[in-house]
This record gives sequence, structure tokens and C-alpha cells, in this order.
Amino acid sequence: MGCGTSKEKGEKKVIILLGPPGSGKGSQAPKIVELLQTPHLSTGDMLRAAVASGSELGKEAKEVMEKGGLVDYKVVVGIIKERIKEKDCEKGFLLDGFPRTVEQAEMLDDMLKEEGEKVSSVIALEVPDEVLTERICGRWIHKPSGRSYHVKFAPPKSLGNKEPSPETMLDDETGEALTQREDDSEEALKLRLETYHKETVPVLAYYEGREGVVVEKIDGNRRIEEIWGSIEEAIMA
Ligand code: AP5
Repeated sequence: MGCGTSKEKGEKKVIILLGPPGSGKGSQAPKIVELLQTPHLSTGDMLRAAVASGSELGKEAKEVMEKGGLVDYKVVVGIIKERIKEKDCEKGFLLDGFPRTVEQAEMLDDMLKEEGEKVSSVIALEVPDEVLTERICGRWIHKPSGRSYHVKFAPPKSLGNKEPSPETMLDDETGEALTQREDDSEEALKLRLETYHKETVPVLAYYEGREGVVVEKIDGNRRIEEIWGSIEEAIMA
């Protein structure tokens, strides 16, 4: 082994970004990645890639996702388990959308324990439900890069004073057309929010009770830059 390549147990920076749909996880995650230089593992993005590839796993996930439910935990845990073994996760990683249930959190802890590692911190973005509907229904995505825009809060340069449409909503960097997610409808959002409160909020209490895990609740109902200031402070503390 070369000089300086060995890794002490317990030095991995494993951060969980938690928050309801539309709370700003996808908007803040790239900033965390830039700061820490660790990969961004979004189970939502990974599942959408599986759906787009048309694989068996993707076909199974598609229907559940469109309605706003949770994909079978064995599928999601399997995806994460494989991904965190990769070399770029050696120094740590940012989990976005995982764990989403206490069961998934226990499984994650078991996986990390096998390597002598644990979750370092949980950043929870808090936003009232009524604010989320406007955010989600106005969101447009650049699929290849994952860049997220909003017709009102973060419009692309191409929009100007025009009506939002695939012709007027173009990615700032590539000029390619933006699209809306199938599950970004008011109907699907209702189930996504119900599921979040029932299944995911208990994950926060689970980690608050774990020794050595820093849990930071952050007010996500502010300007994107202000929220980032609080996240940066929490991570660097
Ligand atoms: P996933 O992709 O994880 O979706 P989600 O949790 O519903 O979160 P979103 O991506 O919708 O919201 P976000 O917080 O990233 O918001 P964003 O920053 O874009 O999961 C999708 C599905 O996959 C699930 O429903 C489930 O079926 C399945 N799945 C995933 N993980 C799973 C798991 N572990 N187990 C089982 N199933 C799983 O912001 C939203 C909009 O608001 C944007 O337009 C943005 O510009 C705007 N905005 C952001 N911040 C602000 C602000 N401060 N002020 C104003 N506007 C803002």
C-alpha cells in the first residue's frame, strides 16, 4: 500500500440530508458535494435512472414512484449497499432520500458497522407542507445533469416574461429542454407528504437518540443562500 493511502476506521464523513419533497435537498446537495468533495447518492435519482433504463427493477419502481409511494426497501437498500462499496465513497458520501424509514436507517447502520463506520451527521430541512406544493408544482429539471429550476423561485435565463413550456424552459448551461417529473403533481404530492410524515419523520428521532450522531434541524423556508449558510455552518462545526 502506498504512503498516505491507508484509511483509519471511523474517519468517513457520512452525511444524511433529510427533508420532505420540495424542501430543497436537491438544491442544496450539490453545494455540500462541492464543499466536501464526496459523492452525492440520491436514491430518487438512482431509481429514476433505473426507470429510464427500462430494467426489471425500473419497471417495478415506476408505478410506485408515479403514485408517490415508497419503493420496496430491499431494492433501495441493495442499490445503496453496492454503491457505497465504490472507491469514490472511501472518504464518505452524502445520502439524499435515504434512509426514508427507521427500518432503512437500521440497515444503513448495520452496513456501516460492518466497516467500523457510522453516520456522522443528519441535516434535516424543515418546511411547512403548504409551501411545498408551490415549490413542487413549479419545478422543472434538466434530466442529464439533475439541475433543478423553478418557474418563480429559480427560473432559467430562457424564460424571461414568457409562459413556462418545454420551448421556453431551457437549461442555462446546455440550452437543452427542461422537463417536469411524473410525480410532481398535486395528487402524487399528497401521498408523498403523508408518507414523509408517517415513515420518514421518525428517522430523525431515531438518530437524535444515537450517540455520536450530530442532528441539525434547519429552517428550509428561507432564501436558498441563507439555508446554505446554516448547512455550511452545521457541517463545518
Ligand atoms: P426523491 O427524488 O428523493 O424525491 P423527494 O424526497 O420527494 O424530494 P424531491 O426531489 O422532490 O425534493 P427536493 O427536496 O430535492 O427539492 P428541490 O431541491 O428539487 O424520491 C422520489 C421517489 O423515489 C419517492 O417518492 C419514492 O417513490 C422513491 N424513493 C426514493 N428514495 C427511496 C427510499 N429510500 N425508499 C423507498 N423509495 C424511495 O426543490 C424543489 C423546488 O423548489 C425546486 O424547483 C427548487 O428550485 C425550489 N426551491 C428549493 N429551495 C427553495 C427555497 N429555499 N425557496 C424557494 N424555492 C426553492
